[in-house]
Amino acid sequence: MDDLLFTDARILTEKGVIEGCLSVKDGKIIAIGAESGRDAKRIVDIGGKLIAPGLVDLHVHFREPGFTQKEDFLTGTRAAAAGGVTTVVDEPNNSPVTNSLEAITRKRRIIEGKAYVDYTLQMAVYADGLDEIRKAREAGIIAFPVFDELGDRPTGMENTVVLYEALRRIKEVDGLALLNCRESDLVIKKMNRLRESGRNTLSDYMDHFPHEAESLGAEKRILLAHNVGVRAHLREVSTLETVQMIRSMKGYMDTITAEIRPDHLFLNHENTKDLGPFAQQWTPLRTKNDSDALWEALNDGTVNVIASDHATHTREEKERGLDNIWNSPPGLPAIESMLPLLLTAVNQGRLGLERLFECASTNPAKVLGLYPRKGTIKVESDADLVVVDLEKESMIRGKDSKAKTHWTPYEDWKVKGAPVATYVRGMETYVDGEIVGEPGQGWFLSL
Ligand code: DOR
Repeated sequence: MDDLLFTDARILTEKGVIEGCLSVKDGKIIAIGAESGRDAKRIVDIGGKLIAPGLVDLHVHFREPGFTQKEDFLTGTRAAAAGGVTTVVDEPNNSPVTNSLEAITRKRRIIEGKAYVDYTLQMAVYADGLDEIRKAREAGIIAFPVFDELGDRPTGMENTVVLYEALRRIKEVDGLALLNCRESDLVIKKMNRLRESGRNTLSDYMDHFPHEAESLGAEKRILLAHNVGVRAHLREVSTLETVQMIRSMKGYMDTITAEIRPDHLFLNHENTKDLGPFAQQWTPLRTKNDSDALWEALNDGTVNVIASDHATHTREEKERGLDNIWNSPPGLPAIESMLPLLLTAVNQGRLGLERLFECASTNPAKVLGLYPRKGTIKVESDADLVVVDLEKESMIRGKDSKAKTHWTPYEDWKVKGAPVATYVRGMETYVDGEIVGEPGQGWFLSL
């Protein structure tokens, strides 16, 4: 007897949409077809709505340990499920920073029993911790972000020789280098000049990270990663110049992928003028012209991953920036609004439905080496599923959020299309606005 039978569904597979049934047993998809002919302990009539692969989010900040006033692993993964996300990759900018096997082990102990969705953890690379790469890899960690600066001390990665050696070590263990597109010294120089001249509004904040700091940073890291032959993933591509540069360097991108954040697609200088610190994030928002270039890059295959960069702060922490933007921390909640916003774009004809889930589910699963276990609807794949109502019209409201902080830069935005149910390995986790799963049902994924 199967565990679950979905009937009257439009099932989004990589070969197109199949009208019919999907069967689940022991957390795996075991049958997909027009007619099921199978029985199950539980039968769910989907009523003609879409079943798509659960989203795989490569870029989340769930703040544990160290900053649990902002978010924690229970609230963050709860918000993930509400957003149709069934696998997350958590960032290392904790306190203390997660930059060693010992820190990974401690973090795993702290978050044990809290997750609603499956997860893996990143280990930040420091010049004085290169040996930790192999140790962490042997413990099942695959994702190694190489930041120039993190927490309260420089990582040493701003030095190209050190960065090169770090990429070589990651390659040695078949790891994945996560690369931010930025030359930090150019950013810091511009920021100091703005602050010294008393320029402290959101608009000033948006100017402090020059476009050339991003495209130069991306170009350098593409060349280095290509030269080393390491699998690499460029984060937070945000400008016209960077996508043009990536497009021109397609020949160097054989082991390299790139991501766009939803905020850079939907928010820009022009439509956030009244938000102040509640539109402050790093990499900053760009112009509508940049956003249009990102949509083009997403549709023409220059960029193939969408990742939320969910990074919320308390309302009080953000309000410190109302008079002076430099007094508040950058970062926005994003994981719940990402799918409704993208589905709205599908309804508006800006993005294909298949392309949405290719970039938000299938490609990120491939980046992690988790495909086809995750990121697709195939027999034997994990039953990580999101039921989508493409016609559902609603308003985004911070008060409805399942995250720990109840605000959103998309307050009162009208959206058409939303996740109405999320299943993690066949476990019903989110249904019609309610979390119905259990904390701890999410697994640490050893990769
Ligand atoms: O805006 C951001 N906030 N960007 C980052 O890179 C970090 C994040 C955070 O942790 O708040």
